[in-house]
Amino acid sequence: MDRIKVEGGARLQGRVSISGAKNGALPSMAAALLAQGRFRLARVPSLMDVITMQKLLKRLGATCEYRTGEGVMEVEARQLTSVEAPYDLVRTMRASILVLGPLVARCGEAVVSLPGGCAIGSRPVDFHIEGLRRLGAAIELSDGYIRARTQGLKGARVVFPIPSVTGTENLLMAAVLAQGETVFENAACEPEVTDLARLLRAMGARIEGEGTTTIRVQGVSSLKAVDWEVVPDRIETGTFALAAAMTGGELVIERCRPEHVTALLDKVRAAGATVEEHEGSVRVLGNGRPRAVDVTTDPYPGFPTDLQAQFMAWMAVAEGSSIVAERVFQQRFIHVSELRRMGADISVSGSQAVVRGVPALQGAEVMATDLRASASLVLAGLIAKGATVVHRVYHLDRGYERMVDKLRAVGARIDRLK
Ligand code: UD1
Repeated sequence: MDRIKVEGGARLQGRVSISGAKNGALPSMAAALLAQGRFRLARVPSLMDVITMQKLLKRLGATCEYRTGEGVMEVEARQLTSVEAPYDLVRTMRASILVLGPLVARCGEAVVSLPGGCAIGSRPVDFHIEGLRRLGAAIELSDGYIRARTQGLKGARVVFPIPSVTGTENLLMAAVLAQGETVFENAACEPEVTDLARLLRAMGARIEGEGTTTIRVQGVSSLKAVDWEVVPDRIETGTFALAAAMTGGELVIERCRPEHVTALLDKVRAAGATVEEHEGSVRVLGNGRPRAVDVTTDPYPGFPTDLQAQFMAWMAVAEGSSIVAERVFQQRFIHVSELRRMGADISVSGSQAVVRGVPALQGAEVMATDLRASASLVLAGLIAKGATVVHRVYHLDRGYERMVDKLRAVGARIDRLK
């Protein structure tokens, strides 16, 4: 299995271009199931999760051609030949659940494997199921599968107990073809949700209020295929901002939307780095050892849970102690034990970690446990003394496009070992 080796201590300098967002590409691909024509999706990142979604769309009977070099994916779901998302695909990617809403809306039927538990907590899908029931689908759970069936979805009021990103996306894709009005309350406001709403509107859907907690949908009878560009990856943007700040370097991060990472950039400034935001780019300049800063993760526009592990790697070498509170996925601290192996002083109690800054980290052999945790170990490796080897990098391949190449191009001493 591939590993990543990082020699710490290099100062990063230069320009780095951000890829399309994984969490934007996946719902856009699923949305292509809702219409019969040919979609042309641009800026689709070359990632394992995108390939898994491509396999899934093909299994359902769609054609799905991906020109990796160009980042273009063409999807055409003229006729669907299956309504089943099987366990072998859902198990490798929870976001496979995103085909549930479109299948029920388009075919009146779907059979989707229940995603199992995963490394960051139990992550249930009860809001997706309950919401679809509200929209008029009969749902049965048997043999590890969600079996949904309807004679026709009907608009309804759906209140999310807590905002869910893929939950909002899934139900939005169901509601656009339902009869009548659907009102979502306490909906997720993440930029990827907003972007999906804009895509659906371009396809002919009638949606208002995306980006706020109340989204209104008036169902339409059919949708058309369009060309679409995936939103820039805000988590990759934040990860490179941290890489610049942590290494005392200077990066101009291009083709991004700085306004999507305000919560992170504010914390980066508070910890002592210089951040200049421009239209479509951000420049980050590191200024030595950071001050300790507390963070609490929250739904957007709060501090993203997907940047918590990376920020913690920086706070591990801060002057003073910081408190990192996780309010989205309460068990999302598995990276802590690996950071400790590198000399970090972190204790966890419930959904809160106390990070006592140490002067430096030491390189070590560490194990990636999930996607964002792997990124945090790579960042820690960039500032550690000596070499760090990160095992199980397939997690990183699920969500960061060419991370090793991008880091090397701006001066990191990093290699992928076969
Ligand atoms: C999405 C992102 C993921 C990110 C997360 C939070 C994608 C493909 N993935 O995941 O990268 O970390 O948002 O920003 O976009 N919940 C329930 N029942 C449900 C659904 C969610 O209890 O049916 C809970 C979850 O356990 C969690 C919270 O709601 O505590 C938010 O999760 P959610 O926004 O649904 O995360 P995902 O959509 O799975």
